[in-house]
Amino acid sequence: MDNYIIDSRNDKEFQEIIKELIENETVQSMNNYLQHCKTTCYEHCYRVSYLCYKFCKKHNLDYKSAARAGMLHDLFLYDWRKKAETGRKGLHAYTHGATACDNASKLFDLSEKEKDMIRNHMFPVTVYPPKSVEGFILTIVDKYCTMAEFNQYICEKYSMQSLIINYVINKFGLMI
Ligand SMILES: [Fe+2]
Ligand SMILES: [Fe+2]
Repeated sequence: MDNYIIDSRNDKEFQEIIKELIENETVQSMNNYLQHCKTTCYEHCYRVSYLCYKFCKKHNLDYKSAARAGMLHDLFLYDWRKKAETGRKGLHAYTHGATACDNASKLFDLSEKEKDMIRNHMFPVTVYPPKSVEGFILTIVDKYCTMAEFNQYICEKYSMQSLIINYVINKFGLMI
């Protein structure tokens, strides 16, 4: 996975697309919240953004919206493990897409497609599917990155070589 991060830094078009987003202080504040294991929300969103961008560009899809929505899809801005402290209502898994969409819409001029992609990225956990192909790709890439982040954590924690799950991840990565 880390190779993708290195590639992304050398990809001028990708950097140009997400420049406005990653220079924003609120987006950067995602570094203060853990998403999966040791991965911060910012790292997770950046990874999702780049993989969505790569896949959509390769397949002649709307890669700009894919990169933007990917970078903002988890902009919920709280520690989801501490419900009592944040006072939020509803289960995080069901509500944070809408929260991220509201937060992102206040900061950036998003298209209706980008809003829909962010709002419905948790499908099929949530009821409504995204309305675009790029939105479906975001739902899949998000789950793939989540799995990879858990895998990385488990392997590091137990000093394990990545076995079957890493094989699948590498295979999937090669496909992108
Ligand atoms: Fe999410
Ligand atoms: Fe996510």
